[in-house]
Amino acid sequence: MSGIVGYIGKRKAKPILLDCLERLDYRGYDSAGLAISDLKQIEIRKTEGRIKDLRDLLLVEPMESGVLGIGHTRWATHGNPSSVNAHPLGGCTNQFVVAHNGIIENYPRLKQELVKKGHTFTTDTDTEVIPHLLEENDTGDFEETVCKVLPLLKGSYALAIMSASHPNQIIAVSQDNPFVIGFGKEETFLTSDIPALLSYTREFYPIKNGEIALLTPDKVTIKTCCGEILSPNHITAAYNPQDMMLQDYDHFMLKEIFEQPKAVEETLKDRLDADGVRLPELEDVLTDERLQNVRKIHIVASGTSYHSGMIGKKVMDHLLEIPVSVSYSSDFHDEHPTLSESNLVIFLSQSGETADTLSALREAKRHGCTVIAVTNTAGSTITRKADCTILTKAGPEMAVASTKSYTAQITLLMVLTIWLADKTGGAGEKDVSDLLRSLARLKQDVESTLIMTKDAIDQFAQVTYDQDHLFLIGRGFDHVLALEGALKLQEVAYIHADAYAAGEMKHGTMALITPGVPVIALATQPHVLDKTISNIKEVKAREAFVVGITTVDDELVESVVDEVMYIPSTHPFLMPILAAIPLQLLAYYSGTVRGHDVDRPRNLAKSLTVE
Ligand code: F6R
Repeated sequence: MSGIVGYIGKRKAKPILLDCLERLDYRGYDSAGLAISDLKQIEIRKTEGRIKDLRDLLLVEPMESGVLGIGHTRWATHGNPSSVNAHPLGGCTNQFVVAHNGIIENYPRLKQELVKKGHTFTTDTDTEVIPHLLEENDTGDFEETVCKVLPLLKGSYALAIMSASHPNQIIAVSQDNPFVIGFGKEETFLTSDIPALLSYTREFYPIKNGEIALLTPDKVTIKTCCGEILSPNHITAAYNPQDMMLQDYDHFMLKEIFEQPKAVEETLKDRLDADGVRLPELEDVLTDERLQNVRKIHIVASGTSYHSGMIGKKVMDHLLEIPVSVSYSSDFHDEHPTLSESNLVIFLSQSGETADTLSALREAKRHGCTVIAVTNTAGSTITRKADCTILTKAGPEMAVASTKSYTAQITLLMVLTIWLADKTGGAGEKDVSDLLRSLARLKQDVESTLIMTKDAIDQFAQVTYDQDHLFLIGRGFDHVLALEGALKLQEVAYIHADAYAAGEMKHGTMALITPGVPVIALATQPHVLDKTISNIKEVKAREAFVVGITTVDDELVESVVDEVMYIPSTHPFLMPILAAIPLQLLAYYSGTVRGHDVDRPRNLAKSLTVE
């Protein structure tokens, strides 16, 4: 959510910053800007819109070439998307220029005080207090001035700061907001997300709370705010830059939907065999003794990751004898006042940077809970805060809508559940061996589902392109699937899609069913199939147009729906992976047929680093 990049070295900064911003624009894409220093003065250019709009502006208002600079692509939180509110922002004199991710929570009070002291504000942003505060506290020493101002700020931030009096320096700081230094040959980079820099370097250092990074053309110095110089350990990014290219696809979303067989294969690699599962990442922390004391498991996540968590809870309810709850990250504080050392909390986050999830994690740690992170992003903040991390191996997810990370999360939650069942007892041997067998052929089942549904879903999206409302219904696992399908259709196709527990329709929602309204009925769970069929008949009786999604071995659904779509049959716990695929494809094709930018849906961004 908003992206910052920085460059300092011997090459021209502008093309590098623009290139990196383009790779980072999934974090926000409503306005963008650059500040570049030619070692004498700083120039700023900003515009509403995306990086291509910034490029267009630079054709009309070129910038002198400089070898250091910062850039920003914004997801508006305070103040509408506009060139005025775009970053980098200066104060009264542009003595200090700032690009910021995060939120300064105490900005109204700071602004009031600064206005009293004669500062004139020109934007509606929370960020603008920072350059004014730097001006107000300027001692002439750039580093000292920044260190004076930081304690005045409450909230979360990644900040890249330039100073007109020190045009050969950039200062970078971070507080609960990801900000990473990239080390090149005789050049240094800054980024809020590692993938933006992978064409330039694989060596990184994530700046930690309380640290200050001083970048000059010759060196990088990382200090604590008390002035102690640190010798940071670099991390090496494992991603391949090719993974971040579109290759032969029109959109990242479609590419990532089709990468799901690989996401499953990689996530299961070295973790699964005929006898059981291996998760060595957990063994140091989740010792037998500690597991004996676990009285409750909480799963916590946001958005699509929350839906994976709902599936995880249902599977754990079947296979473990420990009570399991699932919460939205943003509600976790309210829902669990009685957290304790006997609680195991599993946080799911594709990005590993979602502010709501990190805030819930801090709460769990404060109460002494044992914390496991399940994330797709090695080196992300969540991996540094959790007691232990298990990585989904879906590869970088560039489209804003999560697809392959959902599949990888559920796959990994199955492995984790089997691992916990093995350690804590409870699950029947047959339950586990059936699931293990199905996991072993999951990759092939995902492949078959893609082949079986792609064209039919494309056609369905073309004929329903004028529908603005759609219902998805299902029972149990299928209800969670309906929630995930609805979320995808809302975010990518802007369709008012609603998900309901099929058995609950008659308790109120049935009033919304009118002749011709499209209903997608999910019927993948054999043990509730008869009841689901009754619920389908209820909506059919109100003349809804029903598309059923069911398994190849079912013979009943076809006769009660208008259209049927078949997917392979696997273990019921894994059906939420297979049946999500036609729903992801439906969102994709419905979005593209309506002319939407499916990779960058309106008002959204990937990595939500504000609460
Ligand atoms: C939906 C989507 C979001 C994310 C949510 C959590 O397609 O992508 O709902 O799932 O913002 O993000 P992570 O998993 O990165 O914490």
